[in-house]
Amino acid sequence: MNFLSIEESSSSHLETLVDLALEMKATRGAHENQPLKGQTWAIIFTKASTRTRVSFEVGIRELGGEVMFLSKNEIQLGRGEPIKDTARVLGRMVHGVVIRTFQQQDVVDFASYSAIPTINALTDEEHPCQILADLLTIKEKISTWKEKKIVFIGDGDNNMSRSWMWAAKYLEFELVVAAPQSCLPPQNFMDRLAAPNVSLTTDPAEAVQNAHVINTDVWLSMGQEDQKEKEALFGNYQVNRELLSHAHPDHIVLHCLPAYREKEITEEVLEAHADTIFQQAENRLHAQKAVLAQITAS
Ligand code: CP
Ligand code: NVA
Repeated sequence: MNFLSIEESSSSHLETLVDLALEMKATRGAHENQPLKGQTWAIIFTKASTRTRVSFEVGIRELGGEVMFLSKNEIQLGRGEPIKDTARVLGRMVHGVVIRTFQQQDVVDFASYSAIPTINALTDEEHPCQILADLLTIKEKISTWKEKKIVFIGDGDNNMSRSWMWAAKYLEFELVVAAPQSCLPPQNFMDRLAAPNVSLTTDPAEAVQNAHVINTDVWLSMGQEDQKEKEALFGNYQVNRELLSHAHPDHIVLHCLPAYREKEITEEVLEAHADTIFQQAENRLHAQKAVLAQITAS
């Protein structure tokens, strides 16, 4: 059993994981169940991370497991050893792997060649663990995503927006993605998604109209940092006080972090919503413990 994408998930799977995450959070520090006892997990990251790395290291230990962090440059992967060979070696030594990398196919290949539980900790395609934490935060802050309007403003064709779109498809909430035309998801993705409750717009104010959840992310994802011409497209897509004046009076603001102030979000809005945003960051721990417990139980 793996956790590679929201696309491969389902409504019942997502709801089960969020409920289990709530339970993990409520019982933190008093776990009798140690599902990873006797296990050693590897965390392989080829991109930077603060939240994901720390939350997985802590989560694995809290569930009774041992953990080793392997950055690309410390292992032969960084010198060109194929992912399928790395997977076949680690699959014979460790009990599960958490991977952050560029290509979704590398995570899929790792899972298939290693034959051990494999978790996607972010690829260019998806960020499934983050979406679980975001759903948990919505449940805690506004009790449900049902009948709510959720907006994603920023790069509509990145890992976060795609994972959100798959979550909307399965959980059936209204999702509006607002992005510059060239940063909206392509038609072939929308055809594959086939979710009438997900709509696209280039108008952020229209998107935010009466929205309950306003979600944003960096304009340039990891690996795109030098695409200054892309960044220049996002001038009108900043989450700021004026934009939020169109939202529902009881709205919340989410940001997966790291945040670039005065780019995708103003300092003022980030600090006004810091309670929610840092709760969202904490929820990575609880959500991933749910994933780890569920994967090892199945
Ligand atoms: N949100 C998130 O994945 O943060 P890190 O890149 O710090 O892990
Ligand atoms: N879209 C961002 C998410 C960071 C957690 C990136 O891939 O860099």
